[in-house]
Amino acid sequence: MPGSLCFQFLLPVIQVSLICVCIGADPKGIQVAVVNNETSPSSYSQSLLTFLDNSSVVQVNLNHTEAFEGIHNGEYWGVIGFGENFTSYLTKRMMSRQVSREVLDGGSIHVWLDLTNQQIALMLQKKVYEAFQSFVDYKLGSMSYMVALPIKMEDPIYGSQHTDFSTFVMPGAVLSITFFLAVGLTALSFVIERKEGLMDRCWVAGVSSLETMLAHLFSQLFVISVQILLLLLFILLVFKPYPGITAGSPQQQPLIAVATEQSCGLSVQGVTGISFGLVISAAIDDEQNANQAALGFFYPNLILSGVIWPVESLRCIMYRGWGLTQMMVWRGFAVTLGWNTFFLILATVILRLRS
Ligand SMILES: *[C@@H]1O[C@H](CO)[C@@H](O)[C@H](O)[C@H]1NC(C)=O
Ligand SMILES: *[C@@H]1O[C@H](CO)[C@@H](O)[C@H](O)[C@H]1NC(C)=O
Ligand SMILES: *[C@@H]1O[C@H](CO)[C@@H](O)[C@H](O)[C@H]1NC(C)=O
Ligand SMILES: *[C@@H]1O[C@H](CO)[C@@H](O)[C@H](O)[C@H]1NC(C)=O
Repeated sequence: MPGSLCFQFLLPVIQVSLICVCIGADPKGIQVAVVNNETSPSSYSQSLLTFLDNSSVVQVNLNHTEAFEGIHNGEYWGVIGFGENFTSYLTKRMMSRQVSREVLDGGSIHVWLDLTNQQIALMLQKKVYEAFQSFVDYKLGSMSYMVALPIKMEDPIYGSQHTDFSTFVMPGAVLSITFFLAVGLTALSFVIERKEGLMDRCWVAGVSSLETMLAHLFSQLFVISVQILLLLLFILLVFKPYPGITAGSPQQQPLIAVATEQSCGLSVQGVTGISFGLVISAAIDDEQNANQAALGFFYPNLILSGVIWPVESLRCIMYRGWGLTQMMVWRGFAVTLGWNTFFLILATVILRLRS
């Protein structure tokens, strides 16, 4: 069946590209209401608003009542408000040693957010801070330290200044895709053989349960290796998720070592998936229940595996370029190999008990 084999090989690539295309990038075209009580065109508020990134934030000029009606109806993700004396109060606030509460309040940008979507709200906050920073840099130049926060973010040690969500989910997503495609490959193997009577003929011929296990494992290993190879090539060439690789820390390895380590990690994960599928197919008799079990384990595994709260070692390999000498990395391999051995032994024992 060349068609279905081709499908098997391409499936992981399709899944990873979907993840990158659909949940990766910053949100675009987010509608935000702007209530500007300052009327003069040369005011600071107008100037500041031009620094707001216009690809992700769409400004809608409204009066106070309309803006709050809109945000309550879910039309806007936030309201940005300026008091009528924003320019003079902001200047006063920068220049004088002591100012009243009223001046502080009137010289501030007021932002009301719809915090039900954390990603969008965080993005809006960041954009407003960035806009203010650029505005201050533009107006004051070298004097901009006077209104900046005394916190300076230096160049990142690992990763880049502009990491997005896909950088965060990529390692977990790649691992879980490898694992579950492998589970899907083997979850039905014994079930079908048992149904067709092949298993009984094997037992009669004197094949041991360990030999049956290993035969399945090695034949599926071929499919897994092609899948992993394509997956890695695709990620390396198309998405280039290696922001930290050029930074050069003493712990960092050359790209080729990183790629090798990564493919070893993924292969180990794939073999664990195969073993888990073998456990399912050894323990369960009919197709429907086996499918149900494989699908049922998907969600618990996804949550417990660290995709959502990452503790895994692939992240250290992919983005920090760490080698096997680091504890985070070898611990990941050790845990996976441990599960692998456990599943293989379990499947063998179940097969032997039932043969
Ligand atoms: C965003 O701003 C840039 C520069 O100010 C301008 O060239 C571009 O047309 C603007 N895009 C939109 C969608 O308004
Ligand atoms: C806000 O604008 C709407 C429509 O343009 C108008 O009916 C309303 O009176 C305005 N409210 C204020 C407080 O100016
Ligand atoms: C703008 O003016 C309206 C009334 O005209 C007032 O309710 C609102 O609080 C003002 N906005 C700010 C940020 O001061
Ligand atoms: C803005 O300044 C004017 C004149 O200084 C003052 O009358 C008015 O109350 C101020 N508005 C606010 C909202 O503080």
